[in-house]
Amino acid sequence: MTTGSLLAADLVITVLAIAGWLGGGAASAARRRRLALCLAAFALVATSARAITITVLAHAGWWFAAEKVLIAAPLSLAAVVVAGPRLLRPPGDIRSAAVPLLFAGYATSSALLVTVLHGYPASAGTGLLAVAGVVAVTAVSWRALGARPSRTVSRAALVVAVTALLAGTGLAAAPRTAPAVHNHEYREVRTVGEPTRRFTLTAGTATVRVSGRDVAAWAFNAQVPGPELTATVGDVLEVTLHNRNISRGVTLHWHGYDVPNSQDGVPGVTQAAVLPGQEFVYRFRADQAGTYWYHTHSVSDVGVRMGLYGVLVVRPAPATGVDVTVPVHTLAGLPLPAPRTEPVEAGTPVRLRLINTDSTTHRYALAGAPFRAVAIDGYELRGSTPLVDTAVLIPAGGRYDLVFVAPATPVALFVDGRAVYSTGPVSAATSAWPLLDPLTYGVASPVPWSRFDQEFTLVLDRGLDLRGLLPRYAHTVNGAADPDIPPQVVRLGDIVKLTIVNRSLVVHPWHLHGHHVLVLSRNGKPATGSPLWLDSFDVRPGDVWQVAFLADNPGMWANHCHNLPHADAGMMLHLMYG
Ligand code: C2O
Ligand code: CU
Repeated sequence: MTTGSLLAADLVITVLAIAGWLGGGAASAARRRRLALCLAAFALVATSARAITITVLAHAGWWFAAEKVLIAAPLSLAAVVVAGPRLLRPPGDIRSAAVPLLFAGYATSSALLVTVLHGYPASAGTGLLAVAGVVAVTAVSWRALGARPSRTVSRAALVVAVTALLAGTGLAAAPRTAPAVHNHEYREVRTVGEPTRRFTLTAGTATVRVSGRDVAAWAFNAQVPGPELTATVGDVLEVTLHNRNISRGVTLHWHGYDVPNSQDGVPGVTQAAVLPGQEFVYRFRADQAGTYWYHTHSVSDVGVRMGLYGVLVVRPAPATGVDVTVPVHTLAGLPLPAPRTEPVEAGTPVRLRLINTDSTTHRYALAGAPFRAVAIDGYELRGSTPLVDTAVLIPAGGRYDLVFVAPATPVALFVDGRAVYSTGPVSAATSAWPLLDPLTYGVASPVPWSRFDQEFTLVLDRGLDLRGLLPRYAHTVNGAADPDIPPQVVRLGDIVKLTIVNRSLVVHPWHLHGHHVLVLSRNGKPATGSPLWLDSFDVRPGDVWQVAFLADNPGMWANHCHNLPHADAGMMLHLMYG
């Protein structure tokens, strides 16, 4: 069982335990003796099962179990101590078991709320709030059931509830230092010499034709995707961005291209958003070859989805053979690009540059010829070997370059089962193919660093964010949501290790701007294949990734989940050079 499914199983068991305790309490109140005892026994079994899930989760990593060990376990123990005896020696009048059983239900519910609303890290504040809630609700039930607790008991309950509430609120609401990431001065544009490649991109609303339908889009130069920008290593690119009428502003972010900070296109961090009628000129040297893409970073969850993206390819030399880009996107629910078929003469080398511009993972399968994955996220792999009938998963924002030599028979690329590019008709059932694991593909070379100057851990989860104007159920990092996640401060030249832990139930495609990270390990298993220098990687539920990078690109860099609605809902922080 993976840690991800264990996290889900633990939630289900908790809900069952709650249902058992509360149902048992209600049945006792209604004097349904047998039912009450059955439900309570069921709750007891579920509660003991949690002892196992929590232990295994704690073993997988403290991040997965902290609040369960520190808050849920003591509350469950209290539940069992209070309700258990009623079960072993059922009272003559079953009604007197109602309050203890309800108490057990409240205690378990309150621990579940801690997991769902706050998660990691477990704090004394949340623990106290949880206790206050349990005591208060139990006291109310007690009264409602017409029981007459003695004065001392009611007083004690009141004192415990109020103290826990006050202490908990105080601890939970203690101000954190606000990070100074936004609204600083934007840095000067760096001089990079005379441009050798010039492009103009004009952002505006447009109607584009997809699968025979007219779709309202936001587009660069009225097309989705925008124009393909190509360059040769050594070129100086100059891209002039105009905003015709995108009222929420536009920028250009060069996804995966480690440009100087001032050219990175993050509104509010590296530049102001380009508003209708305005323009911004980007200039940078193309010194990394590979497959990249560009997209707006202004309200990016909407802008990218609506079509403000395009391909950036930098070649080491003019292309030879067939060199095709396949930027996959979903526009108004319709898949892009349109399928394309072109015969290729046998013996011709073909390079497919696969790009996932959506917010979720896609599955790619190349049928009809052995192929090699030669680059991921723009970086060449070392010692890539031929693959046959193998699928690859590309995370949101990620790129894979696949190469093959055209055989005499047709070849086809399927994306999620749909043929997107082919050299002729191919029918292949690719859905059962095994997946390529890039961590074990190719030939290893030793990690270039033996020590780390800085180590950071990012625990990804969901939680209640009460700091904005309206409360929201945010996607969180270390229990906080943008803009309240403290920035990670590094010095130029530092070797930085990041541990990224996903304790939520959904995939988070992680993306650090301005740097490629070297994968060290996933779930405790060291990467044994080619060195993997990534800018986008899927951290699945229960995953723990360890990656490292050299801090060699000064500035203020976004570091976020590339499921863009998640980033918008809080899962975004910054790396800054101090
Ligand atoms: Cu492709 Cu910050 O994003
Ligand atoms: Cu995410």
